[in-house]
Amino acid sequence: MAMLIEFVARDAALAEKAVLAIVVFEGEAGAAQGGAFARAVGAGRFTGAKGQVLDVLAPAGLDAERVLLVGVGKAAEFDEMGAENAAAAAYQAVKASGLKTLRVRLPAGDAAQASRAGLGVRLAAYRFDKYRTKEAADKKPSIGKTEIETTDVDAALAAFAPLAALADAVAFSRDLVSEPPNVLYPVEFAARVKALETLGLEVEILGEAEMAKLGMGSLLGVGQGSIRESQLAVIRWNGARDASAQPIAFIGKGVCFDTGGISLKPADGMEDMKWDMGGAAAVAGLMHALAGRKAKVNAVGILGLVENMPDGNAQRPGDVVTSMSGQTIEIINTDAEGRLVLADAVWYCQDRFKPKFMVDLATLTGAIIIALGNDYAGLYSNNEELSENLLAASKAESEPLWRMPLPPQYDKNIDSMIADMKNTGGRPGGSITAAMFIQRFVNGVPWAHLDIASTAWKKPSTVPTIPEGATGFGVRLLNRMVADTYED
Ligand code: BES
Ligand code: MN
Ligand code: ZN
Repeated sequence: MAMLIEFVARDAALAEKAVLAIVVFEGEAGAAQGGAFARAVGAGRFTGAKGQVLDVLAPAGLDAERVLLVGVGKAAEFDEMGAENAAAAAYQAVKASGLKTLRVRLPAGDAAQASRAGLGVRLAAYRFDKYRTKEAADKKPSIGKTEIETTDVDAALAAFAPLAALADAVAFSRDLVSEPPNVLYPVEFAARVKALETLGLEVEILGEAEMAKLGMGSLLGVGQGSIRESQLAVIRWNGARDASAQPIAFIGKGVCFDTGGISLKPADGMEDMKWDMGGAAAVAGLMHALAGRKAKVNAVGILGLVENMPDGNAQRPGDVVTSMSGQTIEIINTDAEGRLVLADAVWYCQDRFKPKFMVDLATLTGAIIIALGNDYAGLYSNNEELSENLLAASKAESEPLWRMPLPPQYDKNIDSMIADMKNTGGRPGGSITAAMFIQRFVNGVPWAHLDIASTAWKKPSTVPTIPEGATGFGVRLLNRMVADTYED
């Protein structure tokens, strides 16, 4: 059940069994609430620095059962993201306290701050618990409702509407990534996307016969060892004033499980490869968000959905496949399958939709984790303006990107002896040569590639809005980029 968010006036009565979270600036905590907590603050190390939380039980003279002081650092540095993180941190601190309601008191409490606090709590309260049948009651979250204090309830509600749509979209994306691979295989993924038509999206699903007709030998080769049928989902949102306006396009790698194929991965950690569809989940989540907030833009989302399995009929190292573009590819390693899926999905996208630009998202390489660690995704692009827009949105939404190079002199690393190219370029710069492989299929269209292998899944959690597990990385930043730059 999704967390209920309400906006209330500061003097609204507190419900029973409530926690009051008061957001305080560094150095000002003792003076907060007329000095009510000066003694508790003075007794310890709590200063109100960013990330600090001080718990005051049964505070005198207040209706709340508990007070939480949440530090956000210096007043001058406090912004909407600060409000979001403070509210999320408050939720994390009391979610299993046994109390029922969280009340959040922000320094100003204007509509912008209050609505972002609501988003923070919605994201923080995400849980994937549908397969837990025996969780003890006292381990489950107890907070069912969050009230955010604001100076303008109506304005806060209005500002929250698109953010609630975003939170729903992120949760949709996280659910897809969290689902086990025996449940979420390509046909099931496609069915869940098809169900988004109720939001006003148009969804077409192509099966293997249709993809074969289109000549998608590269994508189909990856799925050929699986008993699960490969799918291509085409999602359209037509929200622009001019229905015929050129669309923007997003493409996702949707490898519902990546065993490596005949180039089999080691057993250790292989279960993580259920989230090798994180790119497709992010694109599906983005389309969910655009529809949910009725974005004034024409957008296309394309998901290449396959399962990479070893089998008597599986693709072999040494095979040569012909992609939809006509270019031939020698398979060196069947575990470098994501780029093979994207090759056909990206080509199909530009060929059919002639988009303004394309952004693909993929859990593409282990090498990007080695290069950037787990806080940054890799950004590759052939276009400065698109890169700048992505980087700006990434900053605004705290979904960090780091731009990586596409050095022309590395391109020969994926030349093949017998075909137009091969599917791996060796260990050095492994994330770069993977990006350069995709680049051979963009046909000159402005394009960016986000290698999100580093960020699709987080363990342990490092920010309060992203609980351990599926992050939904990409949904927020792309939604923001569309809103800031590409809507009517
Ligand atoms: N899905 C993996 C990349 C990956 C690795 C994602 C670890 C998340 C965590 C991808 O299909 C893959 O196996 N890439 C290989 C490429 C290599 C064979 C050239 C890799 O990164 O090792
Ligand atoms: Mn692989
Ligand atoms: Zn993969």
